[in-house]
Formats: sequence, structure tokens, C-alpha cells
Amino acid sequence: MTSKMPLPGELDPIETASRDEISALQLERLKWSVRHTYDNVEPYRQKCEAKGVHPDDLKCLADLGKFPFMTKTDLRDHYPFGLFAVPRTKLARLHASSGTTGKSVVVGYTKNDLDNWANVVARSIRAAGGRAGDMVHVAYGYGMFTGGLGAHYGVERAGCCAVPMSGGQTEKQVQQIMDFKPEIIMVTPSYSLVIAEEFERLGIKPDEISLKVGIFGAEPWGEGMRSEIERKLGIDAIDIYGLTEVMGPGVACECIETKDGPVIWEDHFYPEIIDPETGEVLPDGEEGELVFTSLTKEAFPVIRYRTRDLTRLLPPTARSFRRIGKITGRSDDMLIIRGVNVFPTQIEEQILRDQRLSGNYQVVVTRDGHLDNLEVRCELQRELSGKLAPADIQTIGKELQHRIKTIIGVSTKITVMEFDAIPRTQVGKAKRVLDERPKQN
Ligand code: DLL
Repeated sequence: MTSKMPLPGELDPIETASRDEISALQLERLKWSVRHTYDNVEPYRQKCEAKGVHPDDLKCLADLGKFPFMTKTDLRDHYPFGLFAVPRTKLARLHASSGTTGKSVVVGYTKNDLDNWANVVARSIRAAGGRAGDMVHVAYGYGMFTGGLGAHYGVERAGCCAVPMSGGQTEKQVQQIMDFKPEIIMVTPSYSLVIAEEFERLGIKPDEISLKVGIFGAEPWGEGMRSEIERKLGIDAIDIYGLTEVMGPGVACECIETKDGPVIWEDHFYPEIIDPETGEVLPDGEEGELVFTSLTKEAFPVIRYRTRDLTRLLPPTARSFRRIGKITGRSDDMLIIRGVNVFPTQIEEQILRDQRLSGNYQVVVTRDGHLDNLEVRCELQRELSGKLAPADIQTIGKELQHRIKTIIGVSTKITVMEFDAIPRTQVGKAKRVLDERPKQN
């Protein structure tokens, strides 16, 4: 693969600033962000008071460790707008992602927030080797998910042309790529391989495809998958990381010249790694849970937001900012199925809505080719077991499948079993998830 080195003047000056300059900027912004949140987000102020800390206690970056965490539960408890720090008239957009049960997690952006977001995504595209004038095929989903629109405005900000294709319709994706000849694609890594297979099916070779770079994220992927994507599409495959609560795509992105883990845009997002059990801050290089504090966000600032992603902080290489290693897992039970975040508790909620089902269930994740499949095994209630006709059992399954698809957004195979067919756990927690996917390397 060819690697494009950035030319002088193509980077934001802060990307190559000294660590001292970066720390000074971070401290100044951190003080603002903590103060802004404390003053405007009542539940966070209460948490600080309960812990006996005040924004005035923040004198150096390490002092952040004294402040309380924010979690997904806080977002659920204050659904939909309870953690927003600006009045609703100042909002310019909302996005949402999965909560652990029924209600989703809702985030808001002011006009300035959208501006900063477009800037960090544009910076990510440049880091990936994109330049003004390139055409970018965006196959992340558009809508409440941050992927599509987040990528889109970054593409425009980078001076590129956005093709807002969104997900699905694989044949059309391929047709448009052949006709429009984009240089860049932004999509989940798993779906990029589905697109690659469609090219293969049509007998189109990698060197006949216009794409030069792919910017992939929203789900974990490893070096094995990188080589496969690069080989099948004839591109450089770059890793982009982000999450709804912190912004969306573009919290961190790899540089094409090194491909050694996403560079955190530390002038906007301050990272920490903590021990997920004790909450203690760990030194750089040690594996733990990634925590982010937003430094510039107005509408929905986050202070020490626990991402639940497990990884390490790595020293700067291509830029002056630190990097994150591959995401090796999660400290909660969230699954990412074809780019959709799914909590087993969300599935449980839908099962429990059907009185004919026992409430005992198991979720089985497998990989078929490049795509993940989700099977939900559930059981009939004792009094119905052995008494229903196969057609009735099929209806129960279909109804559950439909509810899960419409409410959670993920396709499932449902297996309705007789009472007691799913093994009960005798000791400790029930084993709800059987993840049979091969490990990412
Ligand atoms: O997935 C935002 C995004 C869109 C990122 C497009 C990159 C590209 P959420 O739906 O809130 O936001 O999911 C966030 O997805 O906490 C990680 O567990 C996982 N994730 C995102 N990017 C990566 C990545 C978007 N590059 C959750 N590698 C995060 C591994 C990733 N996991």
C-alpha cells in the first residue's frame, strides 16, 4: 500500500505542538469544562458535592482523578435531557445510542459543538490520507446513529465531496463506487468486507476499484481483518474510534503513515485509563477502562465518562497526541452486532413483555463469514410447555423477533424452546451470553 505523508501546513499546529503546550491547553480547557458542567448540570454538581470536590480543586491535570465519574446509568436516570448544560433553544442537533434497557441514551450538540466535531472528523480524514478534492463514500448509517452525519460533516469540512449512501443495499453501494469513483470509503469494517465480496462476485479486481483509503470503526476489528480488507479492496485501512456520549466518530483516528492505533484528539478529549474494579487511575501503557473528559463541549459535556472500552494509552508517534491501542473488550456486557450496540438486558426486556415466555434466555453470537449473527434462545412458561402447536410457537418467535428488530434495531434468529431447556446456573450469575465469535487478533 502507498502511504501519503502529510505535507507541512496540512496539520493543525496543535497536532505537532510540544507536550507542554498540549498540557497547558488541556488544563485551561479542563478547568472551563469542569466549571461549566458543575454550574449547569445539577446532577453532576450533586455528585461533586457528595464527593466533597469543587471546580476550584482542579489545579493540575492529575487533580481530575478526584472528581466523580459519569456513566451510562447517569444518562438513563436523567433521560432525555437532564445532563444537558445549555437550554434547549441553544441545541442544534440530537443523536442517540443504545441504553441498557428501553430508553436510548440521548446526546445534544450546540452549533459550536457541531463545528468542533466537523473539525475533528476532518482532521481524522486528513490523518487517514484524505485531501481536499477527494470524494468520500459514506456507508455508515445516517439517522440517530452518529456514524453517518458525523462522518458527513467532517467530509465536507475537509473540503471533500460527501456521497451520503448510508448502510445497506450492497449492490447499489458497489454500483455507485464503480460509477462515481470515490477515493475514500467510511464504513464499519465488517460491512466493508460484504462490499468487497460483492466486488469479487462481479469479477471486479482490487486494482479496478477507485478506492485508496478506508476509514473504519464503530466496532472492534484486528490486524487480521485489516490485512484482509486491504488485500480485498486494494486500499489502506485506517481505524477511527468514537462514541456517542463523547461526540461520535472522530474522538481518535489512526494516521496512515504509522497505522499504529488511533491518535486521540487530545485538545478536545482528555483520556484516562482506570482500573474498572477500583476506579483508580492507571499509568500510561497499562490496560484498563478508557475514560474521557470533554474539553470543549457545550451542550453535553462529559466529565470522566466511563466508556467501558478496555484498552491502553500509548505514547505519541506520528502526532504529538497519545494513542489508544486496539479495543480488547468491554467492562460491561454490551455486544456490537453489525455495528449496532446491543445490551442483553434490552433483549431480556422484550422477552419479559411476553407472558407466554419464562424469562429464562440465552443470547448466542456467532460469525458467519464476516458478519455477526445473533440467536436468542427463550423458553415457554411451564404451564404452556408441550401444549402449544408448532404454528403458535412460531408466532411467539416471530413477534419477539419483530419487537427486537423495531425497538433495538438488530436482526435475530429466535429459538423458542420448551420449559427448562436452557441450562440454569446453579452458582453465581446466569450465563446469558455465549459469544462464539473467533477472537480478533
Ligand atoms: O460507534 C461512533 C462511531 C461511528 C465510531 C463510526 C467510529 C465510526 P456508538 O454507537 O456510541 O458510537 O458506539 C461506541 O463502539 O464505545 C466502542 O465499544 C465501539 N467502537 C467505536 N469505534 C471503535 C473502534 C460509534 N474503532 C462504541 N474500534 C465504543 C473498536 C469501536 N471499537
